[in-house]
Amino acid sequence: MLNSFVKINGSFSDLAKKRFSCRTFDGEGIEEKKLNDIKNILNKENNKFDFFRVGIVDKKILKQKKFFTTGTYGMFKGDRYYIVGILRYKQPFDWVRYGYLMENIIIFLTEKGFNTCWIGGVFDRRGFGSEIGIKDDERVPAVIPFGYCGKKRTLRDKIVRWSAQGDKRKPFEKLFFVENDNHLINENLIKSILENVRIAPSASNKQPWRIFYKSKRFDLYLKRDKLYSKLIPSSDLQMIDMGIAAYHLEQSALEKGSGNLRGTAD
Ligand SMILES: Cc1cc2nc3c(=O)[nH]c(=O)nc-3n(C[C@H](O)[C@H](O)[C@H](O)COP(=O)(O)O)c2cc1C
Repeated sequence: MLNSFVKINGSFSDLAKKRFSCRTFDGEGIEEKKLNDIKNILNKENNKFDFFRVGIVDKKILKQKKFFTTGTYGMFKGDRYYIVGILRYKQPFDWVRYGYLMENIIIFLTEKGFNTCWIGGVFDRRGFGSEIGIKDDERVPAVIPFGYCGKKRTLRDKIVRWSAQGDKRKPFEKLFFVENDNHLINENLIKSILENVRIAPSASNKQPWRIFYKSKRFDLYLKRDKLYSKLIPSSDLQMIDMGIAAYHLEQSALEKGSGNLRGTAD
């Protein structure tokens, strides 16, 4: 669909399975060398797209500078370093492209051994934005804390996870519709590709993606939660979810289909 932002070397399936939302970090931050590596790799790619770039923010410094910052409203603990995803929004499909690229970064960070969490709901958009020198035509739809998960989850973390039912996913049949008309493609292969979409993260775990497979073609649809869209009017979180699903579908098809199933989504 798109060029990725950063390269992934390992197995996409393994990394997708390894990822989960961490909301209680160990409070130790990150080794300096590793942090610099991440900064260097991301900075090198920052001119790749005209509509997307990232910044890295140390929340400790943000807090020192902005005494009144609400950060992430206490929903996270031990968090320190953040990837700030910056979008120059022009048209609705940019949300999808944004989700695709930010999920690529999440999987990249997973490969580097870090835990992460998408944050697109409530966070101090203005604070993070000013820290990375946001321009007038840019916005910050989401940020990603990254580091090492703490051993013990806070009660708040447990409640958030329980309320989003973060460990659960809708049954396969409610999300995906596979029509194997010509019997040329192994149905189990298609199902295993779609399984990697099923485990993708989505805002409030709403899993709004529906996929129809027929004649070597995957069609993605969004089952919108209208009320939910009004909650965070500044970004279209469910379109971002679609970009995340597209990334999982594409990477999985490339890995498992050995090029046989190259997608045409654009
Ligand atoms: C676009 C997007 C925005 C999200 N925003 C938040 C958020 O603001 N706060 C939060 O705690 N989790 C947020 N999440 C994480 C989801 O709640 C989480 O991915 C989902 O519950 C599934 O759990 P898992 O990631 O552990 O598989 C967001 C996820 C996505 C994809």
